[in-house]
Amino acid sequence: MAQLWGGRFTKETDQLVFNFNASISFDQKFFEEDIEGSIAHVVMLEKQGILTESEKNAIVKGLTGIRQDVQEGRLNITQEYEDIHSFVEASLISRIGEAGKKLHTGRSRNDQVALDMKLYTRGEIISIAGEIEELLLTLLAMMEDNLETYMPGFTHLQKAQPVTLAHHAGAYFEMFKRDSLRLKDIYARMNYCPLGAGALAGTTYPLDRVYTASLLGFEGPTLNSMDSVSDRDYLIELLSALSTIMMHLSRFCEEIIIWNSNEYGFVEIDDTYSTGSSIMPQKKNPDIAELVRGKTGRVYGALISLLTTMKGLPLAYNKDMQEDKELTFDAIDTVKGCLALFTGMLKGMKFNREAMAVSAMKGFTNATDAADYLTGKGVPFRDAHEIIGRLVLYCIDRDTCIEALSLEELKAISPVFEGDIYDAVSLKTCVEKRLTIGAPGSAAMQEVIRINREFMEKSWLKQADKETVK
Ligand code: ARG
Repeated sequence: MAQLWGGRFTKETDQLVFNFNASISFDQKFFEEDIEGSIAHVVMLEKQGILTESEKNAIVKGLTGIRQDVQEGRLNITQEYEDIHSFVEASLISRIGEAGKKLHTGRSRNDQVALDMKLYTRGEIISIAGEIEELLLTLLAMMEDNLETYMPGFTHLQKAQPVTLAHHAGAYFEMFKRDSLRLKDIYARMNYCPLGAGALAGTTYPLDRVYTASLLGFEGPTLNSMDSVSDRDYLIELLSALSTIMMHLSRFCEEIIIWNSNEYGFVEIDDTYSTGSSIMPQKKNPDIAELVRGKTGRVYGALISLLTTMKGLPLAYNKDMQEDKELTFDAIDTVKGCLALFTGMLKGMKFNREAMAVSAMKGFTNATDAADYLTGKGVPFRDAHEIIGRLVLYCIDRDTCIEALSLEELKAISPVFEGDIYDAVSLKTCVEKRLTIGAPGSAAMQEVIRINREFMEKSWLKQADKETVK
């Protein structure tokens, strides 16, 4: 057991208590951020005359040495320390001696952990947004390639009106675009530095918090020291955004599972992304889509868990807040993994265009257009709706579709039908006449693709490379 706070105590901590309290098994995840934050802290301390130049140099050299030794496997992060902060400080003291004891001047683990977690999640936001970007580009390419891939559009999972695969993919493009923009907003809102808040009430040392914040790429320092050490809003916002990403992925997965079923046969998932059955030789299962759908629950769980942890906490820091870590790390890793796998699966997926078009023709998806045809010839819409309803019933009885009926059969139901009905209810016409922005007609889709290409070119991520997201 190696702790930073032995002075006030006369007895050793019970081992079970130590284990229960310790966080090093998981907070070593932000080992590098802890070092980065400490370096910025001592650079500022020296600028302010709180440390001498040689003390600062010794500490910075010690810290970079520790970082390198851990990265290269010469030094192990062991469980005898309470947390990663204790490990780094103890390693520094044993490496450089007296000067190492000055690292924690004007700092508490409360503002230190708040900083480390922010630095870590800030980097992860960029990395998740990068995964989303890859998915968006994949969807955009899918849209460009499938402007005339007709398929049924559904409401209530019943065939409703024909759309195209480009249009369907475009719906997900919009969802993931919003997800990316949500991450951008969260990044901008969280990008203020808590270091210097101390335990809760700032410090008596003349720290330059603006300087530390700028060294670490923040917009500026946080403005209330109590809030700084107890704010976990940015994690809750992030978990909420991650939950929404998973919800979107899960919906898409559900559709792919349906499309991949024997009954639909719209898609074939590449062998590299499917799995077999140990007993049924014919099986090729969409396990990846099912697992992504399944993992959605644990990300929602993380959000509810952290909201619940925070709900009764008085100001300022409380140890409950240590619970923010494992679930956030797990949610981030889960979402990144799911995004990468989903994109990979989508890239290799083959679409059975024929099966999709046949399915669109079979389900009376052109019934609305048939009614609109009659309306165009002067029949009031309500009457047209009724006539087409009877026509559909007639077709169901004979297991056929509107466009397969003879003109005599059609005229028997309504004399208004003429030879031009066949073109009016063809799949192509039904889609191509839908030309308002946002509709599936290919001219409308092309305009949307153009707008979204531009969005990708101006991507906020490109600016975030310089860590200056506003
Ligand atoms: N492991 C702690 C956490 O994650 C670090 C902060 C400890 N502060 C304290 N006052 N015990 O929250």
